[in-house]
Amino acid sequence: MKFSTFGAALLPFIASTAGAVQLDPNDEASIKAAARSYAYGLMELYKNNATGTAEQDIGVWPQPHYWWEGGAAWGGMIEYSMFSGDSSHVKALQQALTANYGPSNDFILSYRKGQTGNDDQLFWALAVMSALEYQFPDADSAPADYLEVAVNAFNNVMGRWDTTTCGGGLKWQIYPENAYGYNYKNSISNGCAFALGARLARYTGNSTYSDWSEKIYDWTKSVGLITDIYEVFDGVDDKTNCAAVADKTQWTYNNAMFLHGSAFMYDVTNGASIWKERVSGFLSHAELLFFSAETKDNIMYEWACETGESGRTCNLDQQSFKAYLSRFMAQTAAVAPFTKDSINKYLTASAVGAAKSCSGGDNKATCGSKWYTGSWDGTSGVGQQLSALEVTKALLSLKQNIVPVKQGASEPKPTTTVTPKPSSTPAAKPTSAATSKPAESSKPAEVPSSSKAAPVNSATVPSTKEVVFTSAVVVSSTKSTAAAAVSTQKPAGSSAGVASSCLSRTTVTVTISKPSGVNTTCTPSTTLTVYVPPVTSAPVVPSGATTSAPVVPPVLTTLAPAAPSANVSVPANGSVPSSTAPAEFQGAASSIMVMGGSTLGAIAVAMVAGLL
Ligand SMILES: *[C@@H]1O[C@H](CO)[C@@H](O)[C@H](O)[C@H]1NC(C)=O
Ligand SMILES: *[C@@H]1O[C@H](CO)[C@@H](O)[C@H](O)[C@H]1NC(C)=O
Ligand SMILES: *[C@@H]1O[C@H](CO)[C@@H](O)[C@H](O)[C@H]1NC(C)=O
Ligand SMILES: *[C@@H]1O[C@H](CO)[C@@H](O)[C@H](O)[C@H]1NC(C)=O
Ligand SMILES: *[C@@H]1O[C@H](CO)[C@@H](O)[C@H](O)[C@H]1NC(C)=O
Repeated sequence: MKFSTFGAALLPFIASTAGAVQLDPNDEASIKAAARSYAYGLMELYKNNATGTAEQDIGVWPQPHYWWEGGAAWGGMIEYSMFSGDSSHVKALQQALTANYGPSNDFILSYRKGQTGNDDQLFWALAVMSALEYQFPDADSAPADYLEVAVNAFNNVMGRWDTTTCGGGLKWQIYPENAYGYNYKNSISNGCAFALGARLARYTGNSTYSDWSEKIYDWTKSVGLITDIYEVFDGVDDKTNCAAVADKTQWTYNNAMFLHGSAFMYDVTNGASIWKERVSGFLSHAELLFFSAETKDNIMYEWACETGESGRTCNLDQQSFKAYLSRFMAQTAAVAPFTKDSINKYLTASAVGAAKSCSGGDNKATCGSKWYTGSWDGTSGVGQQLSALEVTKALLSLKQNIVPVKQGASEPKPTTTVTPKPSSTPAAKPTSAATSKPAESSKPAEVPSSSKAAPVNSATVPSTKEVVFTSAVVVSSTKSTAAAAVSTQKPAGSSAGVASSCLSRTTVTVTISKPSGVNTTCTPSTTLTVYVPPVTSAPVVPSGATTSAPVVPPVLTTLAPAAPSANVSVPANGSVPSSTAPAEFQGAASSIMVMGGSTLGAIAVAMVAGLL
């Protein structure tokens, strides 16, 4: 199937609220109101719970979104529902999840083969993990409970641990016929599995999962995807036995997986110093790379594609990545409390920035991508709504001290519908300690880890009234809302899933190393890989590669549309190209060293060629 309009993902957006979103980050009610607005804006884009929707379209965003983004978004919506007490989407979410369990209750669906890589499957599993940890209500007629599904998915994925090359690792793709990426072992697939294992270990107390997580972490480090300064690169090529890192792009979501997985391991190991060091390392690196204090006021941004510095724009998948860094920073703060002050500072600034960006469209509440601009950037879509939602509900969870539960925690109890009043919740005060950036090579400072994860309790005694839904994980307050009646009807039928094809690509890698001696608090070396279709116009390769003059990006620095042209794409997203995708992923074909002065962003340009 062709998607010539791939770049025009300006999906219809119908106002559910009017007026720009106001956010007072010190006011819990204000945070909830903003999150509610974003959630409604997001769900307006979801068409596939309408009566009559084909079974296999349920839970999936309209084309050209890939299957994985459903799982990704439902994870965020589940958490939002539980943290806010807004029950209006519960039925739609339950329906979306269960419709994708598959015959073995592990998120393997035969008709979704072309879009199912390990990471795609795992994003859905992580949504179910959140349902467990935040006690999201089970669907009435679920074919399996959440734990069963999470465990099945994890075990299914780990059954593909591949020791035939590189000493282990998970490939990006599951099926050999999905050749593009079948030779690629990447951080997102391994990072999702690492994090899910750590969370299952904490939830169940079963060390099988944490043993896997140790193993996955060690392997990822061993092939250079995690560096000594906690960079997380994108992937390695098993055709070369992972001799070198094939793609050194750093994405927020790769960091997010290893950050929060390490935080859960820190909890599982009762505060082992090695995991504490890793948590600190990933967090420090995220702060340096994804929140530029100098120019962006600690507001999160997608370094690799958002500012134009790198010479490329974010694709449809990448528009949503800030959602996952937001979500998983908040979870990190919950289970590794020594990070909380710092994380609160960054999420607060980001949520405020996001609110300013959610001022577009007819309703003046449509969210854009670039939170640091102080206004709407003209883009809109699932990724934009989801990212704003997640950073805001992440902030809400910090305010409420929400901690994921473990197995056996008491079930949520119905409470009365009395207006929820946050009992305490003082405004969080970012500490000044968080502002000092550790030198990259230095060990993270030892911080006393006083509070382990607080026990979670649903408190409040039930009685009477119409209450059905309550957020059980809220420590400082409980709340409830009458459940909205939502049709549970599951339409039958069939329709084709999304399919697309990819070009084979050659690669140009440009590395800009900062001269030593120059301020190196930022990334000492940044490498950017851009995939260029081989047939058409030659990529613009910076000539005079060793001069010190910064290379000027010829194009692509203007505001991106909702989704960038399909002409420029990077195989570093969480999705899977179609089964018809031809070429295997080659990794970086050539590297050009460019000594840059103060230019941080690497610059490379891919010329485009049409087609998907
Ligand atoms: C679909 O989901 C939306 C948002 O949760 C909800 O408002 C709507 O009622 C649902 N529609 C059906 C038919 O379930
Ligand atoms: C721990 O998890 C593994 C993998 O799911 C399972 O095979 C094993 O039975 C579990 N152990 C216990 C004690 O539940
Ligand atoms: C880097 O630059 C910042 C701001 O110019 C300065 O405060 C800091 O001390 C410098 N760090 C190093 C290591 O030179
Ligand atoms: C994800 O990356 C693949 C591989 O480059 C690409 O074909 C696909 O278009 C990307 N997905 C999206 C939604 O951009
Ligand atoms: C790719 O680029 C060509 C040339 O700039 C353009 O004509 C075409 O519409 C683009 N294709 C897509 C899918 O954006």
